[in-house]
Amino acid sequence: MADALTPNGKPNEPHLNRRRRIYRWFDVRIGVGSLMHEALDEPIPGGARWAYVFGSVLLFLFISQTITGIFLALYYAPTADHAHTTLAYIVKEVTGGSFLRSLHAYGSSAVVIVMLLHLTQTFLYGAYKGRREVLWISGCALLGLMLAMAFTGYLLPWDQKAYFATTVGTNMASEVPLIGSTLKRLMRGGNEMGTLTLSRFFVGHVFLLPGAILGLIAAHVFLFRKAGAAGPPSEDPINPKLPTERFYPRQVLMDTVVALLMICVLGLFSYFSPTELGPKANPADTQYVPRPEWFYLPVFQWLKYFKGSLSIVGIVVIPTLTAILVVGLPFFDRRLERRPWRRPIAVGIYLAIMATLITFGWLSRHEDQLDPAIAKQVAKQNEETERFMREPFEPEAAASSLSAPNVSVLDPAAVAGKKIYDGESCDACHGENGVGTNAGPKLAGATAQKSAEELTKLLRHPTPKMIEGEMKPVEIPDEDLKALVAYLKSLK
Ligand code: HEC
Repeated sequence: MADALTPNGKPNEPHLNRRRRIYRWFDVRIGVGSLMHEALDEPIPGGARWAYVFGSVLLFLFISQTITGIFLALYYAPTADHAHTTLAYIVKEVTGGSFLRSLHAYGSSAVVIVMLLHLTQTFLYGAYKGRREVLWISGCALLGLMLAMAFTGYLLPWDQKAYFATTVGTNMASEVPLIGSTLKRLMRGGNEMGTLTLSRFFVGHVFLLPGAILGLIAAHVFLFRKAGAAGPPSEDPINPKLPTERFYPRQVLMDTVVALLMICVLGLFSYFSPTELGPKANPADTQYVPRPEWFYLPVFQWLKYFKGSLSIVGIVVIPTLTAILVVGLPFFDRRLERRPWRRPIAVGIYLAIMATLITFGWLSRHEDQLDPAIAKQVAKQNEETERFMREPFEPEAAASSLSAPNVSVLDPAAVAGKKIYDGESCDACHGENGVGTNAGPKLAGATAQKSAEELTKLLRHPTPKMIEGEMKPVEIPDEDLKALVAYLKSLK
């Protein structure tokens, strides 16, 4: 190559036309030609097949999730007080926001479905055989990371569903022996679910997991290319004998067709049945019946059978054994025989696991429908979600401005009282304008019904319950206290 260049770095080929010359310019500097060769000329023993499309479709979905995720992140604030409002803003106000969010939400389900199809194809074709152990393990790691993406993403909307499902999910972690409670606190950023939990899940969902996934995808593709495509089940996985066909054009075409089909399906779902957002998480709600995303339902159902001292079997022992079985598959199954009908034990175990998952998922739904109390509560929850979706977007009360909708600006004592309320850090527990937090109850509404004397007494001499909640007696001049009480009474 070098001798084709003149001393100033230009190819010494005046006969080439302009397009060829531009191509050559890049080729000399970054090796476009060999890159394209590397990417597109991979030989496939036995030729292109529709069965091989799933890996490429997964890559496509990952890119789609990244793009839609970036747009969502432009609007999203990962704190307990703002997450839900920002999401409501995306869904109700931003042009195409609901569509975008739905694409991302349905996309996550699509990733799980296509991942299962990819796994099934690889398994049935015995494509993990013949020195492909590391390739298989990198795929298992990707599966785990993708499920972690789904788990962390589920909390981010901070609606009732998100909050309570994740409470259950993180509670499960505490069942792990020895490190359980540490693990739970690590995930939550404390004992309770709050802003620290949300920012941990957000950082995991947006930085840590995608970074790890990107690295592993690179490793997975590299290892796949290194081992070579395995071809059909009749093929020798180490020394393929069938005539090969290159990846480009037919396999690329098939992959693209399915990826486009995927866009259409996701688009149709997102357009005609956009993902709903429920009312904001209310940690005080004791009635809420939490249910996870559909692909976690089998696990959810499974855990119902392992209560009390048995829970360690259900949460730790059996899942660990299953994971070892799956990850270690290419080590346990050393035969080079790939045809599924000649591997009855392996295929039988696989089908049994899949059938169990489907049965548990179905049972979970079925039991909910059979229990009238749960069915009623679930119907109520759905109704609340529908109602919230119909309400117009409501911006948050501005932080320090006096135009906050629930403060009476007409009463100067109340205005002065708000300053004292914020100055005395009452908002630390009772929230902005007394809306309530995990640490203190909602004041708006409740205090309006109490008399001024009653409130004054309550603040000077808190009840044992308030002291237990670490609320201290208010020690400020009578005049300030009067203003504070006027403010509390103005909260609606
Ligand atoms: C450390 C957290 C904390 C702080 C700070 C705090 N409170 Fe409280 N407050 C509580 C808790 C917890 C309760 C409820 C106890 C119970 O009855 O369960 C409460 C109860 C109250 C009540 C009674 C509500 C009712 O409906 O009975 C009022 C009024 C109140 N707080 C006002 C204030 C004011 C005003 C301030 C600021 C000077 C303040 N609180 C600061 C935790 C706090």
